[in-house]
Amino acid sequence: LDTYNNLTLKTLMGLEWVSKHCPNASYVVKADRDVFLNLAYLVRQFLVPPKTNFMTGHLYQNTAPLRNKGSKWYVPHEVYPNKTYPPYCGGPAYVLSGDLAQKIYGVAQTLPVMNMEDVFMGICLRALGLGPTASPWGVYNMVRLEFERCRFSRLVMVHHYQPQELLRVWPSFQEAPATCHR
Ligand SMILES: *[C@@H]1O[C@H](CO)[C@@H](O)[C@H](O)[C@H]1NC(C)=O
Ligand SMILES: *[C@@H]1O[C@H](CO)[C@@H](O)[C@H](O)[C@H]1NC(C)=O
Ligand SMILES: *[C@@H]1O[C@H](CO)[C@@H](O)[C@H](O)[C@H]1NC(C)=O
Repeated sequence: LDTYNNLTLKTLMGLEWVSKHCPNASYVVKADRDVFLNLAYLVRQFLVPPKTNFMTGHLYQNTAPLRNKGSKWYVPHEVYPNKTYPPYCGGPAYVLSGDLAQKIYGVAQTLPVMNMEDVFMGICLRALGLGPTASPWGVYNMVRLEFERCRFSRLVMVHHYQPQELLRVWPSFQEAPATCHR
């Protein structure tokens, strides 16, 4: 069932697909449908030359499970007993090197799955003896920003852009290379 609480399984399915059908991909991006994503900037600024064992996005460190049953992100003790989560990249959009997609998919088979999909990626990284790499502040925006062409040309991700809005701002965004100072 494609439900919020099965999001981890859905993401692992994506990584399985990548492992089988794109084994030589340099990178994999996982992005939600409601994000503005500046792929050209991401590649140019952060992914060249190719890296391995690399994951980046909006870094969360020393965060703790929400134990409040009413929360969308409620995590019971039985599911995750530790007081804090390992470092992880926020779910709206993160990037990993292609080799890591296969390694995460592999190690996930040996770990108990938990509902917080982005946290679980961090747990897999830790099990691999790895961790995520922080990106400069302001590059991955977990809080919505009003569209501004030149500003958006110098960031990778803004959360909370619905498909209709993406269609609306995209033509203007396309003008950025010709009209914004670098
Ligand atoms: C997750 O998917 C499985 C398989 O379809 C289903 O049995 C289960 O109810 C789903 N869990 C949740 C929490 O939605
Ligand atoms: C991946 O690279 C290997 C070695 O270069 C090659 O043999 C294989 O065909 C490539 N696979 C795909 C799906 O491109
Ligand atoms: C939870 O804590 C134990 C004990 O400190 C540690 O061995 C384990 O790696 C932790 N789990 C995660 C997912 O960080």
